[in-house]
Amino acid sequence: MFKPKKTVLGLDIGSSSIKAIEMIIKGNEYAISNYGQISVAGQEDLAAPLKELLLQMNVKSRRVATAISGREVIVRYISMPSIANDDLRKAVQFEADKYIPYDLHEVILDSQRLDESALGLGNTGEMKVLLVAAKRSLIEQRVQLLHQVSLAPFVIDVDSFALGNAFELKSILSPRAEVEGKVVALVDIGYSKTNINIMIGNNSFFTREIYLAGNEFTEEIQKKLEITPEEAEGCKKEPGIYALEIQEAISSVVDDLANEISLSFDYFEGQFEREVEEIYLSGGGSQLFSLEPDFERIFGKRINHWDPTEHFEILNDQVDVEALRLNAPQLSIAVGLAARIKDI
Ligand SMILES: Nc1ncnc2c1ncn2[C@@H]1O[C@H](COP(=O)(O)OP(=O)(O)OP(=O)(O)O)[C@@H](O)[C@H]1O
Ligand SMILES: [Mg+2]
Repeated sequence: MFKPKKTVLGLDIGSSSIKAIEMIIKGNEYAISNYGQISVAGQEDLAAPLKELLLQMNVKSRRVATAISGREVIVRYISMPSIANDDLRKAVQFEADKYIPYDLHEVILDSQRLDESALGLGNTGEMKVLLVAAKRSLIEQRVQLLHQVSLAPFVIDVDSFALGNAFELKSILSPRAEVEGKVVALVDIGYSKTNINIMIGNNSFFTREIYLAGNEFTEEIQKKLEITPEEAEGCKKEPGIYALEIQEAISSVVDDLANEISLSFDYFEGQFEREVEEIYLSGGGSQLFSLEPDFERIFGKRINHWDPTEHFEILNDQVDVEALRLNAPQLSIAVGLAARIKDI
């Protein structure tokens, strides 16, 4: 008898494109066994493009890990008196009211105790707990979309945690001594939003979403250079001789984004008395040609780009490796989701 292969499809439903990465267990390792991406910018009905993507990819696995984000997903890092892990769920349920701006009947709650040893605080008698609440209707909507295309979600994560998961895997697969124990900020700049996840080792200590990203860069270029949205999008990606003009046109939006990111760093640093040491950029918007020098100047920190796919074996016969490498900066969340194969 053939045993069914263990695969998981990581599905990142972004506001400009849906990205799908399929992982498979090969021996003791994970490999990328399929990849696809389809544009959905401005589309309301996502079932049709999703169906098309699955057809294009000829996806066999129905088991999906996906993520939600936005204002209806609330993430809080709270301090509580230390209690036994068994009692955590009940205690959090009791505390949640203080932190969640919705009626608790309208949300689905999840919680996890944080490993504070990463912070080196010693025993304070308090514990830090990660509290996540998502509007029930948002989750139901996502499940319904997946059911419409005959997919079954086994994990519904949150974008910034999936991003963290991809980074954690990168650190496990290629440990860099100089990163160990460091405070790193993952910053994923997409089309409509920027996700921040501040991590120490494998623990996330702060997440936030800023509603400013690649689309605002394009709009600003369009306005200042008085060109069409399509031309602005083209110039942004291939500025050629207009590079300086474009850098200048978007400087105020880049400053606004950097300011919001700085506020998050300040908040984290105030809470935990640790400084953010390095920034790891991902997301399509992070490919903006002038972003790295601008951020380096503004933050005075080392800015890194990273490829979430680089340490995985890629099954060449099924995957367009060139497209995968080209779009790698956009794939962190999908990779982080597919890697949940470890949980099946
Ligand atoms: N080479 C490039 N230079 C500048 N911007 C780029 C480049 N390539 C892609 N982008 C921008 O990246 C954005 C899309 O990135 P991404 O796919 O990460 O977003 P998304 O996941 O669909 O959106 P969101 O996460 O906000 O829901 C677009 O605004 C696009 O213009
Ligand atoms: Mg995205």
